[in-house]
Amino acid sequence: MFLQQNNLDGLRVYFNQILADQFSQSEIKLMLKAFVTKRLKMSDTDFMLANDLRFSESDLLYFRSVVKRLQSNEPFQYIHGRTEFYGLELICDRRALIPRPETEELVDWIVQSSDKSAALNIVDLCAGSGCIAFGLKSIFRNATVEAWELSEDALELIKENERHTSLEIVRVKMDALSEIYPVEDESCDIIVSNPPYIPSAERSRMHANVLDFEPEMALFVNDADPFVFYQAISKEARGLLVKGGWLYFEIHEDFETEMIACLKQHGFVNIELRKDLQGRSRMIRGQRVPSRHEQ
Ligand SMILES: C[S@@+](CC[C@H](N)C(=O)[O-])C[C@H]1O[C@@H](n2cnc3c(N)ncnc32)[C@H](O)[C@@H]1O
Repeated sequence: MFLQQNNLDGLRVYFNQILADQFSQSEIKLMLKAFVTKRLKMSDTDFMLANDLRFSESDLLYFRSVVKRLQSNEPFQYIHGRTEFYGLELICDRRALIPRPETEELVDWIVQSSDKSAALNIVDLCAGSGCIAFGLKSIFRNATVEAWELSEDALELIKENERHTSLEIVRVKMDALSEIYPVEDESCDIIVSNPPYIPSAERSRMHANVLDFEPEMALFVNDADPFVFYQAISKEARGLLVKGGWLYFEIHEDFETEMIACLKQHGFVNIELRKDLQGRSRMIRGQRVPSRHEQ
């Protein structure tokens, strides 16, 4: 047996011995608790009282395999199979990007800016796991929320997350770079997107846990045309939004000037950048000209 003692203390020692170079003490503590409570279907209280617990052979093999996966830089969320996003638990695996905290801030900006009881039509474009769509649907209960995405794998994950959260989303397979967008003109109140935006040249600066495990198509754009998604989506969104409707984007912190220019070029007004909690410009929004001002 690879544990000195078959109990929680023994497991703690094992996790710390193997993972201390890669993770902080508090990260190791949180991960161990998450794996144990999920594997043994325990509540947090059961976990606190579980000092005398003895693990079965198959539990021990499971803990050894998750430690090996962590050692190989696989992200915790993919191994655990779950992640938290805007108060929701979502299924999370290699079919889609791991939802990020700054994306929760984007959702929160929309929540704080919109009428929560209105029957809004909201589109999350390049939806991935569907985190933005689910976060919004959990608050805007009367809204129709659509998740548009090209990847079949991601669309399958969104379907599983619908069951997991009991939130109803309209799933649509589409290509954001085509000119065929699957709704009528002037039918959306809010369009939000966190599209791929990392120039390929930045690969060398990125960590193995992202490069080796997260889907390539969720991350990278061609260095020659890093705004390809923002250009295509802004161009189409202007017609799809109702007058006065809003387009929201998550953006690369280095591209705020270009993003303001992009929204201006496509006729958006009341353009506003927002910083995330780390002080980086990571979000932008623009409004389709309200009717009284439009020619
Ligand atoms: C940065 S990820 C964002 C995922 C999710 N919205 C989030 O915030 O975690 C971008 C997503 O765009 C999708 N995607 C890539 N190319 C696309 C295209 N041409 N049309 C639609 N979606 C696309 C990827 O599959 C990926 O799920």
